[in-house]
Amino acid sequence: MTQVNNYDVKDMTLAGKGRDRIAWAALEMPVLKQVRDRFEKEQPLAGQRLGCCLHITTETANLLITLKAGGASVVACASNPLSTQDDVAAALVEYGIPVYAIKGEDNETYYRHLDAVLDSHPTQTMDDGCDLVSRLHQDRPSQIADIIGGTEETTTGVIRLKAMEKDGALRFPIVAVNEADTKHMFDNRYGTGQSTLDGLLRATNVLLAGKNFVVAGYGWCGRGLASRARGMGAQVIVTEIDPIRALEAVMDGFRVMTMEQAAPIADIIITVTGNLNVVDRQLRKIKDGCLIGNSGHFNDEINIGFLDELSETRRVVREFVEEFKFFDGRKVYLLADGRLLNLAAAEGHPASVMDMSFANQALAAEWVFKKLGTLENKVYVVPREIDENIAALKLKAMGVDIDVLTDAQQAYLSSWQSGT
Ligand code: ADE
Repeated sequence: MTQVNNYDVKDMTLAGKGRDRIAWAALEMPVLKQVRDRFEKEQPLAGQRLGCCLHITTETANLLITLKAGGASVVACASNPLSTQDDVAAALVEYGIPVYAIKGEDNETYYRHLDAVLDSHPTQTMDDGCDLVSRLHQDRPSQIADIIGGTEETTTGVIRLKAMEKDGALRFPIVAVNEADTKHMFDNRYGTGQSTLDGLLRATNVLLAGKNFVVAGYGWCGRGLASRARGMGAQVIVTEIDPIRALEAVMDGFRVMTMEQAAPIADIIITVTGNLNVVDRQLRKIKDGCLIGNSGHFNDEINIGFLDELSETRRVVREFVEEFKFFDGRKVYLLADGRLLNLAAAEGHPASVMDMSFANQALAAEWVFKKLGTLENKVYVVPREIDENIAALKLKAMGVDIDVLTDAQQAYLSSWQSGT
């Protein structure tokens, strides 16, 4: 272990605790472990400088260690001001990875930390939410020539990148890791589902059974959250803007209604839409005592400014819970300042799903380097072979066997002549 000199973390004495927790997460990350073992031997990232803007968690630490094992030099900052695990940040510095991340950092520090990563002149980016890539394109265009490509972790980041591609603004290729089936079907659904409830319960310790639990958005995260909340006995209500998703939610057995209709009966509202002001003017009708939180990437899904306008007072009543007392006496409780509840008040998605997400990240970074000179300035999906291989490795690690097609079945699937 070679500790680096340049870094900005809360407290280096936390490193021992961070090391233990990183090792604990590794127990549930067998696929990433196989990638790491191969990377150690083959050094596929030798000479690459990876600039990473990710949630600094135990799972991310295992990814960063894997990238370094593959020969890359790695510098990392947080992708959200509230998601950093300070012990992990300290442990990574001891592992020789410069980290710039402190839980609770203000916006100015957040961007200073992004700039510190960019000061390391990366040749590849690894982003979660597109803040690093956006900063690079807007403030440091001269550095773009050094960059061969990047990867993006999350739905919100992919939406921003596709907008950049559409505008002709994207200046290097990016692999959208979120689009891999082994990412969004597991991380977004089971990861967000479980970790959001974890954050909600750690922050409030409320009983979920019998509560009217509103899930705003029925994408992969919303599906996971709705099913987990139902599993805890809540009466789940879904709000949507997409008619197909809304119909799916109805047939999955949930009540579907508008936010206007849901607000007066909601005991808990959690937004997972990736859009802004999803809880907005409806706040006028909100039920007294309602808990409101967000597990979407940015803290703009709940209109906190409007909540302020409606309120006579605002005070912290316990960690991650702020009470807004309206002029008419009703009280509303905002969780984790409207930031990612699952990462701010809990530890983010469990390692077992991040195992697949981060195997995708590591293999996508390798793919970008292998494809040097052949990719266009576009958003790419993870190659299907990588996605399927990750699923096969995960099944193997879980001790699950599956059937294989016989020759006759293979031929049948590729023929069109035989019918009834
Ligand atoms: N995003 C959601 N959960 C995460 C975790 N545990 N680590 C890194 N990124 C995450």
